Amino acid sequence: MAAKILDGKAIAQKVRDEVREGVARFAAAHGRPPGLEVVLVGEDPASVTHTRNKERVSNEVGIRGRLRALPAGTTEAELLALIAALNADDAVDGILVQLPLPGHIREHAVLDAIAPAKDVDGLHPVNAGLLALGRPGGLAPCTPVGCMRLLAEAGVELAGARAVVVGRSHLVGRPMAQLLLAQHATVAIAHSRTRDLRAICREADVLVAAAGKAKLIGGDWIKEGATVIDVGMSRDDAGKLVGDVDFEAARGRAAWITPVPGGVGPMTIASLLEATLRAAEARVAKQRP
Ligand code: GUN
Repeated sequence: MAAKILDGKAIAQKVRDEVREGVARFAAAHGRPPGLEVVLVGEDPASVTHTRNKERVSNEVGIRGRLRALPAGTTEAELLALIAALNADDAVDGILVQLPLPGHIREHAVLDAIAPAKDVDGLHPVNAGLLALGRPGGLAPCTPVGCMRLLAEAGVELAGARAVVVGRSHLVGRPMAQLLLAQHATVAIAHSRTRDLRAICREADVLVAAAGKAKLIGGDWIKEGATVIDVGMSRDDAGKLVGDVDFEAARGRAAWITPVPGGVGPMTIASLLEATLRAAEARVAKQRP
């Protein structure tokens, strides 16, 4: 069986179109667009590219997106002062601090300082806690939300399915497992210390690869008819972008598979735009008498 391709580029376009309509409605009703502030500390080339894309694409759908690029030597206190100002600014609905931060800044101190209602990355303990408790109303990290949308678009039945998430990061693996559990999947989280990873992956009806290791997952690790979501994005020796899954080998066994690039990648920013609109709508709803 040749797997069907889960086209993240096309689905992200559809999400952006939905957000554009929602943003126009919001702006007409409230006299201002939703506002997103993206904060970057330092000049890591990948982070510079990602944050510029976030600013550009948010403005393309009508969000007032702004990138705050701060020098690498910015102190934790200076960054916290900026976050406090953004928390207090009524025109700001979403705040995203790009990770990783330079070593002299404590990540948890920064993430904990973002107002939960503006935490469009879903990394504040309040939002992570709401997700873990299965309670509505929080914001969840953008990449796993994008993966869930891909699964929904493919019509994959999650209730009762065996899902395996490879990777336990706070940005992807852990929240992905929570989102799958909320849809009634039977979820295992595997990671670098997992014994016989191959055997666990072979049981997966839905396999989410978020280990960050190029071609870790071979074709014979895939159950026939599985759905494979590849979050990995590494460069091979020739400089080509590759995922955590050996795509050519896996596509002979899977029913659905995401390509790299053009799978999960485009969904992350699309989900960020969606989260910003949702955060804006929730904030104005709360402010109403
Ligand atoms: N660095 C890589 N991916 C992400 C993300 O989704 N959010 C943040 N804040 N930083 C990242």
